[in-house]
Amino acid sequence: EDVPVIAIDGPSASGKGTIAQGVARVLGFHYLDSGALYRLVALAARRRGIELTAEQPLAQVAAGLDASFEGDEVILDGERVTDTIRSEPVSQDASKVASHPQVRAALMARQRAFRRPPGLVAEGRDMGTHVFPDARLKIFLTASPEERARRRYKQLIDKGMDVTMIDLVRDIAERDRRDRERAVAPLKQADDAVLIDTTSLTIDEIVNAVVARYRSLT
Ligand code: C5P
Repeated sequence: EDVPVIAIDGPSASGKGTIAQGVARVLGFHYLDSGALYRLVALAARRRGIELTAEQPLAQVAAGLDASFEGDEVILDGERVTDTIRSEPVSQDASKVASHPQVRAALMARQRAFRRPPGLVAEGRDMGTHVFPDARLKIFLTASPEERARRRYKQLIDKGMDVTMIDLVRDIAERDRRDRERAVAPLKQADDAVLIDTTSLTIDEIVNAVVARYRSLT
């Protein structure tokens, strides 16, 4: 493929979404929020009464997902679920759903379909390691656990959700452990990924660093 991909991976609340969207905007590239797909599968499964341990039925939900991204809005079965999929219960469910290899396989083609000219910025856990192993630039973002909990807290409070820091710190740690320890496509830095610790950097600094690196390659 000669459509360039910038893969941005990292643990939850490491700033991937904000950074990936910023880089996509600067370069005029498409944007893939792969986590939203796992969140949508989790929500759709809940609504259909499917257990989060039932791999085969979950993979069917993933394969038949009736979802679309319209600007900043996420639509599932014709309904706006933009905020619902960001809630903590759905976050936890998403990481359980994401541990099943058949679910991951069922979402593969859908993710790769986002790769269209002039380019794609894709963010998640396995963009550089599995979905786009030939990405032109791979970035792995980290931040201290405290900083990540603070960011997620602000994000959820801004959406009017009722959360506490204590719960968030615990939930983020639990989700990260599940993501790192799963057998298939675990969260890990690709060998050829550039590590950026975002703890004490501003959004603009990180976006500019990623864009500059990308431009230095082409
Ligand atoms: O990125 P986000 O926090 O929205 O992802 C929600 C969950 O989806 C993650 O905790 C992870 O378990 C799963 N995920 C994944 N692979 C990706 C993106 C997300 O397993 N590429």
